[in-house]
Amino acid sequence: MKTLLITRDIAAPVVAQARALFDVTVHAGGALDGATAAQAMRDYDAILPTLGDDFSAEVFDGDLRCKMLGNFGVGYNHIDVAAARDAGVTVSNTPDVLTDATADIGLTLILATARRAGEGERMVRSGEWGGFGPKNLLGTHVTGKTVGIIGMGRIGQAIAHRCHFGFGMEVVFFNRSPKSVEMPAQQVDTLAEAMAADFVVVTTPGGAETTKLIDATAIAAMKSNGIFVNISRGEVVDEAALIDALERGAIAGAGLDVYENEPAVPARLRALENCVLLPHLGSATAETRQAMGQMALDNIIAWTRGEIPQQAVN
Ligand code: DGY
Repeated sequence: MKTLLITRDIAAPVVAQARALFDVTVHAGGALDGATAAQAMRDYDAILPTLGDDFSAEVFDGDLRCKMLGNFGVGYNHIDVAAARDAGVTVSNTPDVLTDATADIGLTLILATARRAGEGERMVRSGEWGGFGPKNLLGTHVTGKTVGIIGMGRIGQAIAHRCHFGFGMEVVFFNRSPKSVEMPAQQVDTLAEAMAADFVVVTTPGGAETTKLIDATAIAAMKSNGIFVNISRGEVVDEAALIDALERGAIAGAGLDVYENEPAVPARLRALENCVLLPHLGSATAETRQAMGQMALDNIIAWTRGEIPQQAVN
């Protein structure tokens, strides 16, 4: 029986199926650091890792027992896939099954930030609400506004669809390659043009190519009443530049699900009332997380049969 390390506890039916097919260890100690990941590559035949585990290049040095990483998550910027490929390690991910849940979090953040839901919730819970007032916590209208999507992949398109057909929004998008989409949406040539929309939503993959794509210059292209949403990866945004813009009132607010050094969230950001801050909930529905686990396991099972896993990425 092959050995399988599952690096975090996942949906019980998936773990049960894995136990019937593999000698399974479920890691209990949280995210794997580089040294633990490197040791795991020597101890197990296959690993089911996830976001936060450190599978950087050094982990793939030397003689490895593990030849399959069935990642739980669509994003795999925590795995150096080129180093994995060079070491003969197959890597797979879990696209599609989390598109709707993640797009829904994008809309949650657009609405919650525009309508100051975080501030309102804090006011009610603290007992400081003094009752209805015509000028209390006035937010900004979402319906009919413009949204700029940065990265028009599956999740970007799902957000665009919701914004346009649900809220009558005009959609512009910035994408590194030309993209035709089956809905009214205009691809713009520069990042700055998309950043100038009323709402900006970042949905690019993480990784070296997009690190700090949203820098101080990009943020400066936003309107002073613009709202910024990031549901991709924290490192895509220069967090210090974003905080600076929020503190100066150069933009109206931000809704964030991801951070540069998760789970650390800078105190300056936590102090800002004009931000809605979520703890990386993009795919966090029970249904989606079970489907992600199943897909990750199915990829590992395919690999044990000598097949190329359906969601292989390298
Ligand atoms: C992913 O799948 O990459 C998400 O960020 C995890 O929810």
